[in-house]
Amino acid sequence: MYSEKVMDHFANPRNVGEIENANAVGEVGNAKCGDIMKIYMDIEDNIIKDVKFKTFGCGAAIATSSMATEMVKGKTVDEALALTNKAVMEALDGLPTEKIHCSVLAEEAIRSAIEDYKKRGGVVNE
Ligand code: FES
Repeated sequence: MYSEKVMDHFANPRNVGEIENANAVGEVGNAKCGDIMKIYMDIEDNIIKDVKFKTFGCGAAIATSSMATEMVKGKTVDEALALTNKAVMEALDGLPTEKIHCSVLAEEAIRSAIEDYKKRGGVVNE
């Protein structure tokens, strides 16, 4: 039911963890399933130098967090804002219909981190 790519990103998630002194942090949750996704970014001159995530959620949420962080790493803030859950799903060779909301969470988490960055004006919160 899951593609090999989903299984790979679930079993070996990329970019897991936190970034100390991140200047962008986003957290989103899904009220229905209770899953939570937190994204940390280190953004310099509008480029996402580093990105990490912590996801307390299902396997598809972990796989989409992993793929989404891979897709925005090294990109500009605007490119990352343009990332859609559909693009993440396509990169993972699809998700079962009942798991689409997990990829939406990844899109929202990236967006929320970037909104935080814009709000702070790039400043690291102590
Ligand atoms: Fe809710 Fe996957 S079941 S994020």
